[in-house]
Amino acid sequence: MNQVAEIKLEGRVYTFPVVVGTEQEKAIDIRELRNQTGYITLDDGYANTGSCRSAITFIDGEKGILRYRGIPIEELAEQSSFIEVSYLLIMGRLPTRAELRRFSDLLTQNQMLHEDMKFHFEGFPPNAHPMAILSAMINAAGCYYPELLRRDISDHFETLAARLLSQVRTIAAFAYRKSRGLPFIYPKTQYKYAANFLHMMFSHPSEDCELKPEAVRALDLLFLLHADHEQNCSTSTVRMVASSGANLFACAAAGVCALWGPLHGGANQAVIEMLEEIHRSGDDGRKFLEQVKNKSSGRRLMGFGHRVYKNYDPRARIIKRQCDELLAKLGRTDPLLDIAKRLEEAALQDEYFIERKLYPNVDFYSGIIMRALGIPVNMFPVIFAIGRMPGWIAHYREVAEDPQGRIYRPRQVYVGPTLQHYVPIDQRT
Ligand code: SDX
Repeated sequence: MNQVAEIKLEGRVYTFPVVVGTEQEKAIDIRELRNQTGYITLDDGYANTGSCRSAITFIDGEKGILRYRGIPIEELAEQSSFIEVSYLLIMGRLPTRAELRRFSDLLTQNQMLHEDMKFHFEGFPPNAHPMAILSAMINAAGCYYPELLRRDISDHFETLAARLLSQVRTIAAFAYRKSRGLPFIYPKTQYKYAANFLHMMFSHPSEDCELKPEAVRALDLLFLLHADHEQNCSTSTVRMVASSGANLFACAAAGVCALWGPLHGGANQAVIEMLEEIHRSGDDGRKFLEQVKNKSSGRRLMGFGHRVYKNYDPRARIIKRQCDELLAKLGRTDPLLDIAKRLEEAALQDEYFIERKLYPNVDFYSGIIMRALGIPVNMFPVIFAIGRMPGWIAHYREVAEDPQGRIYRPRQVYVGPTLQHYVPIDQRT
């Protein structure tokens, strides 16, 4: 028997259907609410509002579960690669060996930017934030592919997806090189995704940088763990822009802008800046936590808390383990990792964090890995954006190919002035 929801308004009872997802999530379908009642809903931050049905990623925030197309993140982290996971997210299933080879070849064939793109880099000041460059240059790259602007791109979607996924990495590396006044290093055919990124970041025209297998694996895993996360702020932005019929590259450029914020993908940069501040002050973390608990300080424990996870973010658990493994293999230590671990231990035993169900999220430890790889802090959100690209592409496709798709256009409750009339300027006081 299909369940319904009843809403009583002004003495009348209205019924609305209940939608149940494949993981038994329940939603009240309010598509007829305004037509039937004249009312709309209000939900600041959309904390209780589902914007769509999606088949890409499942999160159970209470249990700390994350699955890409049904496969647990722990299994993918252990056995898969970023490019295989990208195919899984975008195409909806794991590839055969031949399909993976073809997709990987497509990435290699599309890794170069149009040579004229170099002139765009010249226009940015040296201190331009790489996220600003990334967003601008993704849109610029799209200008070289007029086929992008066709309404129906299904017949060459895989090539356009591969082009965006491959070139976001080249643009990011070029942005870093430009900021350091270094010559661009072009990708090499023999290097796979993460290795080619490190090559383009750290090689020199006269000699290739050393690509340590543990460093390449750590970066590939970081990309994989960031690949998708259902309706987060930046992915919802990509879907919003896709719903207007804008092209794939324009949607990705919008996603970069949303991700940049310190409450979202910019948090990995904010975490390291927070840990460095604590380290410089000689505080063992306890004084900082007292500041955080004092609301008037305006401080937050960056890398902690999540709109959906009210349990440990499964990605944070994997990344924390990877920090220890990578530093051990590199024969290094990092005082910031020790501070982060002390902060986590203290916070997880502190009533303030316990009652608000605040746990480490994906950003709390990821910066430690990026530091160990020699990636500068202002590039941390860029690493997040590269990793999230397959998710954005998959969500773009889900919106673009939805036959019932409608433009996203939320309502509002107006609280501004009621009817006013124009007052000529010489009558204003
Ligand atoms: C990402 O949505 C996704 O899936 C995002 C993401 C992805 O993969 O796409 O997982 C990636 O963005 C992870 C989050 C990265 N951001 C940070 O680490 C920044 C620090 N965290 C927060 O600012 C906060 O936790 C958010 C933004 C992540 C979530 O904010 P919410 O859900 O709007 O929660 P809230 O701000 O309403 O906080 C609820 C309470 C408040 O206290 P009270 O008013 O109830 O007393 O918890 C407190 C907040 O003050 N709180 C924190 C805190 N986070 C929430 N207090 C101290 N430190 C924190 N980090």
